[in-house]
Amino acid sequence: MCYSLIRKILFCLSPEQAHFFTLTTLGLAEKLRMTKLLPSPLGSPLDVMGLKFPNAVGLAAGLDKNGEYIDALAALGFGFIEVGTVTPRPQPGNLLPRLFRLPKYEALINRMGFNNKGVDYLLEQLKKTRFTGILGINIGKNKETTIENAAQDYLYMMRKVIPFASYIAINISSPNTENLRQLQQGDLLQNLLRTLKAEQVFFFENNNKYVPLVVKISPDLTKDELMQMCDIFLAEKIDGIIATNTTVHRDGIELSPLAAEMGGLSGMPLMRRSTGIIKELQLLLKSSIPIIGCGGILSAEDAREKMDSGATLVQIYTGLIYQGPKLLRDIIKLPGQGVLS
Ligand SMILES: Cc1cc2nc3c(=O)[nH]c(=O)nc-3n(C[C@H](O)[C@H](O)[C@H](O)COP(=O)(O)O)c2cc1C
Repeated sequence: MCYSLIRKILFCLSPEQAHFFTLTTLGLAEKLRMTKLLPSPLGSPLDVMGLKFPNAVGLAAGLDKNGEYIDALAALGFGFIEVGTVTPRPQPGNLLPRLFRLPKYEALINRMGFNNKGVDYLLEQLKKTRFTGILGINIGKNKETTIENAAQDYLYMMRKVIPFASYIAINISSPNTENLRQLQQGDLLQNLLRTLKAEQVFFFENNNKYVPLVVKISPDLTKDELMQMCDIFLAEKIDGIIATNTTVHRDGIELSPLAAEMGGLSGMPLMRRSTGIIKELQLLLKSSIPIIGCGGILSAEDAREKMDSGATLVQIYTGLIYQGPKLLRDIIKLPGQGVLS
């Protein structure tokens, strides 16, 4: 069945119902070994952050928050999968409705608020998975933890997940947890990264496994803010940057009746802003830290643009909802994809 028809059916459900239905169906197909029938896109392998990626296209955080569908999602052919955001303790997230579709703009607005089942539940899922590919684990803080104490939550999370992670993504850019984005600034950022970096080194010395630390940043940063962050990333030897999370701006959707909904905007209207951040990073860092481009990729051309702007890898989320798994295959087929310059 072609994805446009599947999408028509899914869009009759509420966004969260469609999300749950799609993932449980995919999970069931995986259990029945039916996902083996899916065409497996190969792509060109590439080395980034000391890890070997089978292709450059990853699943962005937020779709499989609790790591319950890793094997099923891997069967779609992703080069890497990022689960989370997960917090130390389970939390329900914000009240419903908290996820909105804007089909005319191929966009979503979400204010999920880190709804997740907590790190111990994630670990149970990770012990069950057969997945041996690149797994990113995206970590955050609980809602009630103050910004001043946030580093303790991140450190706790890191200690728990590091044995299972190919890389750890530090989410300090969700717009849906009050004050979280303050962690992107000055001393708060430096202290957080220094604490986590020390833990990374400690784990390496004791286990001989180097787990890259990747910071996920907001698309709403000014040039000055970005410049200050890059100085800290370089000083603390951060291994990678995910650019970007969702935006609180409403560029391009001003006329939508949903524009006033609180939350982060993703999908097509985010593309330009998010790629602008990649270009700034490239100017500032000159390829010294790998960039994972994320935000508004709805076509293979969008992915190409991110890579031409400085991204080595890309991630998709909203594009998958609107275009289906064909988007992943189209990007993987891009000429030169996966070839490091
Ligand atoms: C419903 C939803 C939930 C999300 N949850 C998370 C999350 O828990 N952690 C995170 O780092 N990003 C989260 N994101 C952001 C995505 O990972 C991605 O950065 C953003 O949506 C931009 O990419 P896109 O335009 O391809 O969707 C979420 C996005 C959506 C739409």
